[in-house]
Amino acid sequence: HLALDQAARAILRKNDRGGYTLPTSGLYPYQWNWDSAFAAWGFAQFDIERAWLELTTLFSGQWPNGMLPHILFHKPDPGYFPGPDVWGTEGKGPIPSSGISQPPVAATFARMIYDKNPDAGRNPMAALFPKLVAWHRWFMRWRNADGMIFITHPWEGGRDNAPDWDSAMQAIDPVGVGDYTRRDTAHVDASMRPTKDDYDRYIWLVQRARGLGWDDAAVAQDQPFKVADPLMTFVLLRANRDLAALADALGEDRAELDQWTAELTAGAEKLRNTAGVFDGFNLNAGHHTGSVSNASFLCWYGHLDSAQMLDELHQAFDQCRYPVPSQKVGSDWFNAKRYWRGPTWGIVNMLIGLGLADMGHKAEAEELRARTAALMAEHGFAEYYDPLTGDPAGGGSFTWTAAVWLAWAS
Ligand code: DGY
Repeated sequence: HLALDQAARAILRKNDRGGYTLPTSGLYPYQWNWDSAFAAWGFAQFDIERAWLELTTLFSGQWPNGMLPHILFHKPDPGYFPGPDVWGTEGKGPIPSSGISQPPVAATFARMIYDKNPDAGRNPMAALFPKLVAWHRWFMRWRNADGMIFITHPWEGGRDNAPDWDSAMQAIDPVGVGDYTRRDTAHVDASMRPTKDDYDRYIWLVQRARGLGWDDAAVAQDQPFKVADPLMTFVLLRANRDLAALADALGEDRAELDQWTAELTAGAEKLRNTAGVFDGFNLNAGHHTGSVSNASFLCWYGHLDSAQMLDELHQAFDQCRYPVPSQKVGSDWFNAKRYWRGPTWGIVNMLIGLGLADMGHKAEAEELRARTAALMAEHGFAEYYDPLTGDPAGGGSFTWTAAVWLAWAS
């Protein structure tokens, strides 16, 4: 494992831009929100100061309303679209950024980094704590449907082209989106990326929210895309619990956090569909989305148990050499190579594994870890992988995959 450990560390160092880490150069040339939280946890395995710096830099982009953007455009890079000129967020935050957020995994990793070395963490953690609370409060106020956390753009959920969004996306007619040039397909095979139909709607939704001036109330009410997301809900639920533990460690008040945890626990139950699977809920249409995705298996990470999901997990282990597929093998949506419609993602595997271990499903947690380790050892640190063959897909030399190796899989 020594050579692989060294290769993983080298990826983090190579993608380091001094205070923040690129997901991978070329395809994603800026600081991405949840990528950075995973990077911090990776750095914490060998450089705790650098881990804290990653999170501190990330929160330097927080808007005054508490929103933490999904991309911080520290330095212009023409190789990426859509850049700051398309988002039109001038004046909203301290540095150029996108106008939407991303899965709030940061509090969970801040807690783990703090627990690793409380002395090194006391000052940075004390500074981050109120910022994390403000960010979670923003979600609870503006992305909360009865305890289910929803997204207003597929990019906000991080799983850009997941089938959970299909019904909401199909209801959008991207009229007037205009001409634009994608840059992602110049870096990566188009068959591994979202389709043009998806992309037109991504850009149309950005233009629409921009037209609303990125006003929180207007976006939350009027955006035609509003889907409650199991990943967002379970991630925030978990992060709130971790923030409450940090409140105890720092001598801060946890009452508001505990109330959110109760609200989200009740909300997450509503994401369980009639088949017993946690899936998306299209709020504008009023129905579950019917997809068994890798996000469905984050129930344990949110501390909800489910015999049905354990059965689904065993099926995924049987069907795939390298689980967990981002879409159930055999479903009409399954595509082994296309981004969030089939491929296996190391980051989601790690979150699922942490949850399984927490909830006492030790054998499944270990099986998932071992198969993820084999996948990375055999096929490198790719963005994502074909769940059947292990073929690497998307970007290479990928920060969060290297971080998952260092922090969990190895
Ligand atoms: C992209 O541009 O593909 C990203 O996923 C958006 O965050």
